Amino acid sequence: MLFTPLILALVCAVVPAFGQQDSATVMQTLQGTWSSGSGAVITGPMYANPANKTFGFPKNTGVCYSFTSDGHFESLRYRYNSNGTAPQCITGVILWIHGTVTVESNGSLVLNPLMDGYQQIQDPCAAVSNTIEDYNDAELYQAWQMFNDPTLGTELLLYSFDGSPVAPLRPVANGPNMLPTQLLRNDSAQATATAGLTTQNALAMNNGRRRWSVSGTMGALTVVFGVGLGSLLL
Ligand SMILES: *[C@@H]1O[C@H](CO)[C@@H](O)[C@H](O)[C@H]1NC(C)=O
Ligand SMILES: *[C@@H]1O[C@H](CO)[C@@H](O)[C@H](O)[C@H]1NC(C)=O
Ligand SMILES: *[C@@H]1O[C@H](CO)[C@@H](O)[C@H](O)[C@H]1NC(C)=O
Ligand SMILES: *[C@@H]1O[C@H](CO)[C@@H](O)[C@H](O)[C@H]1NC(C)=O
Repeated sequence: MLFTPLILALVCAVVPAFGQQDSATVMQTLQGTWSSGSGAVITGPMYANPANKTFGFPKNTGVCYSFTSDGHFESLRYRYNSNGTAPQCITGVILWIHGTVTVESNGSLVLNPLMDGYQQIQDPCAAVSNTIEDYNDAELYQAWQMFNDPTLGTELLLYSFDGSPVAPLRPVANGPNMLPTQLLRNDSAQATATAGLTTQNALAMNNGRRRWSVSGTMGALTVVFGVGLGSLLL
C-alpha cells in the first residue's frame, strides 16, 4: 500500500542491469543489515538471545535481514497476525533464524538454517498465551532487486517463494549486524527439525498486505537483481 509511490519515485536515473551474477558478487551486493519500515527491528544481540531462546520486543513490527559477504545470514521478524473471525485475537509472532545463503543459478536465494532458530507466539485467545518453539525452515526467495537512488538511497526487495514481495528493506547499519554465525544452542529438537523448503513464514509475513507488481516499470527501475524475476511477474 505505502510502497507503490515510493517505488515509482525511484524510477529516475537508474539503468537496468539484467544478467546472471556469481554467488560471491551477489553476497558482496547483499552484505549489510536491512530493515523494513521505521527500522525498529534489528538483527544482532539487541533483541534475540538464541542461547536461552528468549526475545526482547522491538517497539514496532517489521523484518530485518543481515548478510555477510561470505554467505551467512541472520533474520529477525516481528509481526502481528489479525484474525477476521475474532478481531480481538491479534497474535504477535517474533522469530529469529540464522545460517547460510545459497545463491541458485537462476538467481533465487535459499536461506539454510543452522537449526538453532526459534519463534515466540503471543496469542491472547489461546489456552497457553505465550509459546516458544523451534523454527528451522529453509526459506526460498525467488528473486531480489536492489535500487540505488542518489537522493532516496538504497532499497532491497526480496520476493518470497510465491513471488510476493517482503516489505521493502533499507540499510540500517554499516555492514552486517549479527550474532556469531555458528550454532548458538544445542537441543534435542534439532534432530526432528524440518528440512526442505517450507517457507510458510515468508508467506505469513505477507498475509493481509496487498500485493503489488513492478512489472510495468521494471525495465526502468532495475539496478541489480537476481535473475528469474521476469517470469514471476507474468
Ligand atoms: C537470556 O540471555 C540473555 C542474554 O545473555 C539474558 O540477558 C537474559 O536474562 C536471559 N534470560 C533468561 C530467562 O534466562
Ligand atoms: C481465529 O479465531 C478463531 C476463534 O478463536 C479460531 O478458531 C481460529 O483458529 C483463528 N484463526 C487463525 C488464523 O488464527
Ligand atoms: C553443540 O554440541 C557440539 C557437539 O557436542 C559442541 O561441539 C558445540 O560446542 C555445542 N554448541 C553449543 C552452542 O553449545
Ligand atoms: C530457482 O531454482 C530453485 C531451485 O531449483 C527453485 O526452487 C526456484 O523455484 C527457481 N526460481 C525461479 C524464479 O525459477
